[in-house]
Amino acid sequence: QVVDGTRVFQLDAQEGSSELVPGLQTPTWGFNGDVLGPTLRAEEGEQVAVEVRNSLSEPTTVHWHGMHLPAAMDGGPHQPVAPGGSWRPEWQIDQQAATLWYHPHPHGQTEKHVYRGLAGMFILDDARSRQLDLPKDYGEDDIPVIVQDKRFDSGGGLVQDSQGNELGLLGDTVLANGVAGAVQEVGTELVRLRLLNGSTARTYDFGFDDDRRFDQIATDGGLLAEPLQTTRVRLSPGERAEIVVPMVPGEQTMLTSFPPDLGDVLVPSAFGARDRFDVLLLRAADQLQTSPPLPVRLSDGAAGPVASEASVTRSFEVQDRQINGRSMDMNRIDAAPELGSTEIWEVTNTHGVPHNWHVHDVQFQVLDIDGAAPPPELRGRKDTVYLEPNRTYRLIMRFEDYADPDSPYMFHCHLLLHEDQGLMGQFVVT
Ligand code: C2O
Ligand code: CU
Repeated sequence: QVVDGTRVFQLDAQEGSSELVPGLQTPTWGFNGDVLGPTLRAEEGEQVAVEVRNSLSEPTTVHWHGMHLPAAMDGGPHQPVAPGGSWRPEWQIDQQAATLWYHPHPHGQTEKHVYRGLAGMFILDDARSRQLDLPKDYGEDDIPVIVQDKRFDSGGGLVQDSQGNELGLLGDTVLANGVAGAVQEVGTELVRLRLLNGSTARTYDFGFDDDRRFDQIATDGGLLAEPLQTTRVRLSPGERAEIVVPMVPGEQTMLTSFPPDLGDVLVPSAFGARDRFDVLLLRAADQLQTSPPLPVRLSDGAAGPVASEASVTRSFEVQDRQINGRSMDMNRIDAAPELGSTEIWEVTNTHGVPHNWHVHDVQFQVLDIDGAAPPPELRGRKDTVYLEPNRTYRLIMRFEDYADPDSPYMFHCHLLLHEDQGLMGQFVVT
């Protein structure tokens, strides 16, 4: 709904109950409903506002993951919404088309709030993405796919305990858009899936059970320069990828999570590296509408900053629940980049446990990994990247538009138990 030139959304965090597994009622939390939340959608340049209401019995927040916006609107741990309270952030969309998402970010409680079901997609469009010949009929050939794993107790409740696993909670049931055994009917020759790993701890390696090729067209922060033909896409918690899958009449294929290569981790089996799951069955109609071939060029891939523009290099070592030997402190600022500056962040996971790295406010680019060019799927705009142990990821980013010395943004591991346990730091743009 647009009021005086501002697109206004409403989100009400509430308790509910949902049939995540057919025949089983599970107490869940959702935005405007029992589980998950509506897909929000806005256009570059548009002014947006969100009327957030908290109908839960404890404080929560809503964070716009991947969004470039003022820190006071970011919805991190410094913007709690009290039970029964409300919050109305407002900002202008100032970035290219992308598949972003939103989720709670309350201090020390993020894992629980996301795991219970609070999450939704926030899709951005721009003039170029509207013109490109890509599947873009929402719900028809352009499908959001929020992937989350859960574990249930005998009464149907969600098991919340990670049972001593360092990674956090690994579920034995994988849901697509809040449903186990999900099926998507397809009526076109090409179908676009917007994949979001909305899990708290699990990393997936997505592909199809028949190993068919598909094209990856976008990373976290927008379209790749050109479609990337592949058979697999690895996503750690918080990461997104858009893929376009070819279908023939009458067939079906299973979106599958294959055992992911987590790099040099200590106990691969305990971290999900041996697990395989069915995620979403694509079922093609007997007659399919023709889809235009994918464009050869998707975006101006060279638009990001280059290393010679960087004025500051910072090093971050991830070890256990600490960054450079420190745990999250709401009252400590760990970095203060200057407005308009470009920085290189060198991030190393020196712990034999999977971690990843998420930075608020910016989309970064991976310059190199241990000095080597990143693989093609990491050459796009990213806000979250998996950290294979004992490798150094050099990320480049520019801090633009919004300076506020009093409101910090976060950077952290997006394995939510780790984040809650202190694997997070704060920066202000000055
Ligand atoms: Cu998706 Cu700081 O979070
Ligand atoms: Cu971690």
